[in-house]
Amino acid sequence: MLLAMRQPGSVVSVINYKGGVGKTTLTANIGAELATRGLTVLLIDLDPQASLTFSFYQPHQWEQELADERTILQWFGDVLGHGGSQPLDPYVVTPPAVNDVIARSGSGRLDLVPSHLMLVDADLDFAYQLGGSRFQHGSPRYLPLHRALADALGGEAFQAYDAILIDCPPNFTMVTRIGIVASDHILIPAKADYLSTLGIDYLRKKLSELVRDYNRVAGGAVPQISPTILGVVLTMIQYAGTGPIIAQRNFIEQPSSVELPVFRQMIRDNKTLFAPAGEHGIPAVLLPNANPTVQYELQQLASEFLARIRN
Ligand SMILES: Nc1ncnc2c1ncn2[C@@H]1O[C@H](COP(=O)(O)OP(=O)(O)OP(=O)(O)O)[C@@H](O)[C@H]1O
Ligand SMILES: [Mg+2]
Repeated sequence: MLLAMRQPGSVVSVINYKGGVGKTTLTANIGAELATRGLTVLLIDLDPQASLTFSFYQPHQWEQELADERTILQWFGDVLGHGGSQPLDPYVVTPPAVNDVIARSGSGRLDLVPSHLMLVDADLDFAYQLGGSRFQHGSPRYLPLHRALADALGGEAFQAYDAILIDCPPNFTMVTRIGIVASDHILIPAKADYLSTLGIDYLRKKLSELVRDYNRVAGGAVPQISPTILGVVLTMIQYAGTGPIIAQRNFIEQPSSVELPVFRQMIRDNKTLFAPAGEHGIPAVLLPNANPTVQYELQQLASEFLARIRN
């Protein structure tokens, strides 16, 4: 029997060192938009802040239905207990509110692996298993732990997904590294300012260090990794009149100081639309009666995203 295989290039980590640049917002909105177009999408929340999870579930729902048994924390517990990958499918949920909206437009689906606020401690456990906080390359656990998510996503249950987006915390701890090792691409949301680009340079450096170290340890024993940077998405652009404000415009016109691909579609700043998104369990792009300009930008961004992962 031939097993179905996921399209190559479909696993994308959304990451930036800098906090509050729109990582979680873009993950939720791109995922929801693709699902309304009929795709089967999985979102994985690797951030202990669990903002992605709380974009789809109310805190009391999370507490009652997910916290004890259905989050990435329990999966990391399995992985640490066994010293390597464990099945992830017991932790996949289908958030009801957003999927009610998605179901109206077709057969797409948006699934989620929720996070847990206590995930912050998992990193310490990983460091301990690897013999210290420096992720020692000599540890026999280095490869099985780094590959934990990559191997889990290789399981049969995950081959049906058209796209898998991983929302990373704003740091480069072990949890983030595990996400990157599982990814074909990296998506970098950023604000159009000088400080944000500094962070991107540092992120690139850490990325290439991880890829180099990992591939050296992997040798020919397990597949090498080569995640590519899908692009930088400029978010929270402030408009005055018909265009971005001058300070940002200067920046947008010459982002190539970092020589990275930049998405054509930017997302404008809109506090009223984005702030309350979590309360409904439905991302801005699918909210009825929301600002149509912002929704159009999010839809265009999703199209560009799809074109880039499938190039
Ligand atoms: N285009 C936008 N306009 C206005 N506010 C936005 C926009 N995008 C996101 N926000 C708001 O900015 C805040 C930070 O966004 P978000 O949580 O997506 O960033 P993040 O990069 O995931 O943050 P963290 O690093 O903490 O994980 C949130 O309150 C969100 O609602
Ligand atoms: Mg976030």
